[in-house]
Amino acid sequence: MSKGFIISFEGPDGAGKTTVLEKLLPQLKKKVKADFIVTREPGGVLIAERIREVILDVSHANMDAKTELLLYMAARRQHYIEKVLPAVNQGKVVLIDRFIDSSVAYQGAGRGLDKEIISQLNAFATDNRRPDLTLYFDLPSEIGLGRIQKNKDREVNRLDLETLDMHQRVRQGYLELAQAEPDRITTLDASLSAEAVTENALEAIMKQISKSRSLWI
Ligand code: TYD
Repeated sequence: MSKGFIISFEGPDGAGKTTVLEKLLPQLKKKVKADFIVTREPGGVLIAERIREVILDVSHANMDAKTELLLYMAARRQHYIEKVLPAVNQGKVVLIDRFIDSSVAYQGAGRGLDKEIISQLNAFATDNRRPDLTLYFDLPSEIGLGRIQKNKDREVNRLDLETLDMHQRVRQGYLELAQAEPDRITTLDASLSAEAVTENALEAIMKQISKSRSLWI
């Protein structure tokens, strides 16, 4: 069994994952006796950050869906090998803002690519390593898009420019994943206040950690 623990944060754009992650970290550090790293996809290491720039560039409107999928996978592989795996091997808790499920939801449900192929590519990119826990921030797509439009500090990326319809398919994709894997994926109501979502996230994490890593508590 692996020494570390991977927690992925998933959900539609505007669901508040990143804000909650920041609020959560100091509270988690107080409660769990382990080292933490926080990272994100696509990105997290130099090569993957460079791939991120290519993927999200608003001038790349003609990017083919399969090209997009393969770029996310390339970024995932490099990030996994260079950053996630070494941390896991050192027994750290790795908090990742987006991971394998984003590809199934966005490129699978959203873009209509074959989800079976995406699952195989995910397994290939991560040597079959899956998160120990995934927090899925669920939010109606209209609310998510409204939040993005209101947030003036946020840089608009290529995927933000997608239609409401695409965002609704992405949500549907996440809901199906959460239903299929209830032991791994905990769904959080992301329409609540950031404080309430943080509290619920903390509760879900403590529950999962106490099941398999009780020595840390
Ligand atoms: P980012 O600005 O990090 O968005 P957020 O703050 O919402 O996480 O941009 C990442 C975008 O990439 C986001 O729209 C989701 C998308 N994405 C995929 O489509 N597939 C993937 O495999 C991953 C990791 C992200």
